[in-house]
Amino acid sequence: MSSRSHLLNDGTVERYRRCVTDGVGRVADRIARTDRPFTGVTPSQLRPAVEGIDLEEPLDDPAAALDELENVYLRDAVYFHHPRYLAHLNCPVVIPAVLGEAVISAVNSSMDTWDQSAGGTLIEQHLIKWTAERAGLGTAADGIFTSGGTQSNLQALLLAREEACRPAQKNSPTPLRKPEILPRLRVLTSECSHFSVEKAATLLGLGAEAVVAVPCDQDRKMRTSALAAELERCEREDLVVMAVVATAGTTDFGSIDPLPAIAGLCERFGTWLHVDAAYGCGLLVSRRRGLLEGIERADSLTVDYHKSFFQPVSSSAVLVRDQSALRHVTYHADYLNPARMAENDIPNQVDKSIQTTRRFDALKLWLTLRIMGAAGIGELFDEVVDRAADAWRMLREDPRFEVVTRPQLSTLVFRWLPPSPADRSLTDELNLYARHALSASGEAVVASTVVDGRHYLKFTLLNPQTSLDDIAAVLDLIAEHAGRHLAERRGGSEDRLPAPEPVHPRAS
Ligand SMILES: Cc1ncc(COP(=O)(O)O)c(C=O)c1O
Repeated sequence: MSSRSHLLNDGTVERYRRCVTDGVGRVADRIARTDRPFTGVTPSQLRPAVEGIDLEEPLDDPAAALDELENVYLRDAVYFHHPRYLAHLNCPVVIPAVLGEAVISAVNSSMDTWDQSAGGTLIEQHLIKWTAERAGLGTAADGIFTSGGTQSNLQALLLAREEACRPAQKNSPTPLRKPEILPRLRVLTSECSHFSVEKAATLLGLGAEAVVAVPCDQDRKMRTSALAAELERCEREDLVVMAVVATAGTTDFGSIDPLPAIAGLCERFGTWLHVDAAYGCGLLVSRRRGLLEGIERADSLTVDYHKSFFQPVSSSAVLVRDQSALRHVTYHADYLNPARMAENDIPNQVDKSIQTTRRFDALKLWLTLRIMGAAGIGELFDEVVDRAADAWRMLREDPRFEVVTRPQLSTLVFRWLPPSPADRSLTDELNLYARHALSASGEAVVASTVVDGRHYLKFTLLNPQTSLDDIAAVLDLIAEHAGRHLAERRGGSEDRLPAPEPVHPRAS
C-alpha cells in the first residue's frame, strides 16, 4: 500500500471510517470484557513484548497493528472506568468528550493562531469566559487551555513573578536586574499543596528556599494565622511574596484552603493570589458550589477538566482575573502572529499561551456541555463526593482501619491497623504490602501516601459507578492481604517477604 493512501483526505475517507471504526470496536470490546482495573502485569513481564517489536518493520495493516496493540497495551492497560480503580485523580471519561477527541485529531486544528483554527479559537474563548463566569472572576477575566494542572500552575506563577518583579524593582533605591530580584521572591503555599508549585518555582529561576510551606490544621487546610505570620516575616526581611498559592482540593485530602480569609490577607499585603483548583474545580458545576466561596477573589486560577469534569487527558485551563496579566507571555513572531494582527483584532491564542502548537482540547468540554450540560457533570461529581462521605462513615466505624480526615471532596486517606500492637514501621510495611498485593492481583488499584512520616493508603473516588459495596469489598481485601502478611511475618522469618504473584490468571 502506498504511503499516500495513509493520509487522511477526500480520497481516503472510507479507509479512515473503516480504520477508526475498527479501532473503536476493539476498545469497546476490551472495555466490555474488562473485569478488573489492572491485570497486575509487571514491567519485566511486559517489556520483552514491547521491545521485541521491530519498528523498522511496519505491518502496513491497521487490523494487524491493532492485534499487536492488544498484546502490548490494551490487555494490560490500567482502566480508570472500572469501579475498583480507586487510586489517583483519574476519572472515567464521558462519551461526548471522547467524541470530541475523535474530531480533534482528525481535523487537527492548532490553537496558536486564528489562521490555524478559526472557529476553534472562538469556541475556546467562549469556554474560558464560561469558566470565568462560573468562578465569578469578573468581566476582565481571560485565560487559556493548557496541558494540565502542572502547566497551568507554572503559567500562573510566571505571570505572578512578572507582576511582582516590577513593583519590587520600583521600590528599590537603585534599579535592580532580574537576577538580583529572583532570590528575594517567595511563594507561600500550604504544606499539602501540589508539588508542581515547587517545580514551577525551579523552572522560574527562583532560589531553593523560594517556596515556603505554610502549616495546615488537622483538616489539612492552610492555617491562616501561619500565613499571616509568614507574610509579616517576609515583609520584615525585605522578601517579596510574589504569590500565595491556595489549594481548592488538595491531592491527598481533597481539603479546600480557607479561601475568603486567604484572599483577605492577600488583599491586605498586596499579594497575588493563585488558587489551584485542579481537583476542586468540579465544584463549579456542583450543588456544593458554596465550598469555593472566595475563589472569585483569585488573581489566577487552575482548573483541570480532566479531573473532576470527566474529560480525557489533556484538558486544563489557567485563568486570570485581569486579562492584561497575560501580556507577559505575548511574543510576536513575523511568521506567525505579528503585532499588527493583534492591532487588527485577529485573535491569536498563542499570544496568551506558553505553548505554540496546541491541541484543540477545548472541543471535548464544548461537546460535553452541549450534549449533557454542566448540571450533568456536577451531578456526577456530587455523586462521588457523596460516596466518599458514606465511605468515611464506614471507615470510621470499622476498627480494622484508621482514617485521617473527613473528606470535603472524594479522597480517603486511611490505614489498616494490626489487631495487636505492632511497631510503627511494621504497620507501614503491612499497608504498603497490601497495596502492592492488591495491585498485583488486579482486583483493585489504590494509592498510598505519607502522613506525618507514616505510610497510609488512599482512595480517590472519581467514578460514580464505584458503589459502597465495592469500597467495602476492597477494604476486606486490604485487611486480608495485610493480615496474611502479618501472620507470615510473625510466624516465620522476620525477612521481608517477596512481592506476591498475581493471584488471578491474566485476562485474555
Ligand atoms: C491540586 C493539584 N494541582 C496540580 C496537579 C497537577 O495536575 P496535572 O497532573 O494535570 O499536571 C494535581 C495533580 O494531581 C493536583 O492534584
